Amino acid sequence: MSWLVSIINHPTPAPRDAAPALRARKDQLLALWSRHVPATDKDGQGDYELFFEQAVRLEAALDTFGPENVWLVMATDRDAAVNAGTGERRPASEVDHLLRYGVQASKHHQDVDMEQARLSGNYYRYEAFLSRTGRRLALCGLDTGDSAAVEVGDVLASWAADGIRRAFLKATRIKYAAFPVDLPEDFRPEDAGKAIFDELGYGAMNLEGERENLIAQEFVPMEFEYRVFVVGNTVVTAAGCVEEFTPLDNDGHRFDNKLRRHRQAKSPVEAEPQTVGLLINFARDAVDALALEVPELTDYVIDVAIGADGEPLIVELNSLLNSGLYASQQCRVTAAMAVRKRDLVR
Ligand SMILES: Nc1ncnc2c1ncn2[C@@H]1O[C@H](COP(=O)(O)OP(=O)(O)OP(=O)(O)O)[C@@H](O)[C@H]1O
Ligand SMILES: [Mg+2]
Repeated sequence: MSWLVSIINHPTPAPRDAAPALRARKDQLLALWSRHVPATDKDGQGDYELFFEQAVRLEAALDTFGPENVWLVMATDRDAAVNAGTGERRPASEVDHLLRYGVQASKHHQDVDMEQARLSGNYYRYEAFLSRTGRRLALCGLDTGDSAAVEVGDVLASWAADGIRRAFLKATRIKYAAFPVDLPEDFRPEDAGKAIFDELGYGAMNLEGERENLIAQEFVPMEFEYRVFVVGNTVVTAAGCVEEFTPLDNDGHRFDNKLRRHRQAKSPVEAEPQTVGLLINFARDAVDALALEVPELTDYVIDVAIGADGEPLIVELNSLLNSGLYASQQCRVTAAMAVRKRDLVR
């Protein structure tokens, strides 16, 4: 079974002090990288996290699939595919049909992983999510011009009247906008436009006039955010949402135990095995419910957290291939993908 593995060939980072075991691990990855990825004139100046995420993906793909089954495509040379075992070069178009692993550039992502990316991107429509949000949530639009549509201003004003003092708005368009909005007691429907303009400036115009392109949410505390990787409707690895962590920080567990209480405030990171147990059980239950409700959705990441009442909640779902890895074990993802393919072929 051959795979098309796309690698973003970031330059290598500057060396950092590290304990001997970590230094050895980094040297191993750098050696693997130099065997498969062409050198760049910026080597030694690259971003640490971006580089090691790519190096770990390369390692996981080669170890799991076997080098001779891996056709590597570099982000800077998308037209060429090189066999990682034999060094044979082919036009990328000849291996385009293969199963894919690795971060997908947006266009390719749309083409090849479209179904899984689209299905995970629609998470806010699924009952399995809506019944596990721990917060009020409404799908709405800004100045839709449609009297039958739900207006963000009406949603926010009704919440303000109910005593909710803060909301969180997120565009359904991936990575477009996500920000909090204060709701004073006298918040009126017409105040929503200004709140959105204050945050996005003229970018707000891109949101106007469409239905159901905003997810209005009650703002709730989200502590100990945790990213859970799902392949074939099965939870395979997970790690705390700690921005500066890569799989090099994994503690040896498939479900890394390290959590940060406040993701945005960068509070201290601590081992929290009990909370991790709670989050994993909750995620498994949500994954089972999603599998029943949306059977075609099989591969994704689900971010979970602990809400104000100590109860777990779902933050969001994202597509699997393009999600940041944190301190997860990426070989668990590739292994689950490879096993599934063998089952399908049999
Ligand atoms: N309803 C909410 N109340 C409070 N905080 C929230 C809420 N929704 C999300 N957040 C916080 O904002 C962050 C970003 O939200 P979300 O993950 O839904 O959007 P995103 O576009 O994926 O952003 P990012 O790439 O930063 O994760 C979350 O990780 C969480 O810390
Ligand atoms: Mg997110």
